[in-house]
Amino acid sequence: NKVLVLHGPNLNLLGTRQPEVYGHQTLEDINNDLYQAAAVGGWEISCRQSNHEGELIDLIQAARLDGTAAIIINPAAYTHTSVAILDALNAFDGKVIEVHLSNVHQRESFRHHSYVSLRADGVIAGLGSQGYRAALKAVMAE
Ligand code: DQA
Repeated sequence: NKVLVLHGPNLNLLGTRQPEVYGHQTLEDINNDLYQAAAVGGWEISCRQSNHEGELIDLIQAARLDGTAAIIINPAAYTHTSVAILDALNAFDGKVIEVHLSNVHQRESFRHHSYVSLRADGVIAGLGSQGYRAALKAVMAE
């Protein structure tokens, strides 16, 4: 059983990027936590970050072919703009969970719409890094 965790643009700056909004944990902290939880559950996990829309799409396309059962994705700003990421996820047959660190619904109105939510089986927002852990728990419970 295999899960792919995808982090979108600017999430490489976590820990120093608006910590009042996104928390003090770094992306490495979050990923280490997920690697540990996946290992306990007996799942294989790959955590990737990219600032490039096309690279995220390539990673989603690769997941169609390598037996990945689920994708946990924080598309960051591409959430609100990317039909291309939505299309790539629509071509993926497994489970998709969308995660946002912040409660996007409480923020600027341009963050209220998500293209990815049209495909996501579940959406978690506002729980900070715990949202990823909850998403992984849901995936592994399948
Ligand atoms: C985000 C919310 C997005 O609106 C924003 O562009 C991000 C991060 C979040 O995790 O809260 O970069 O996806």
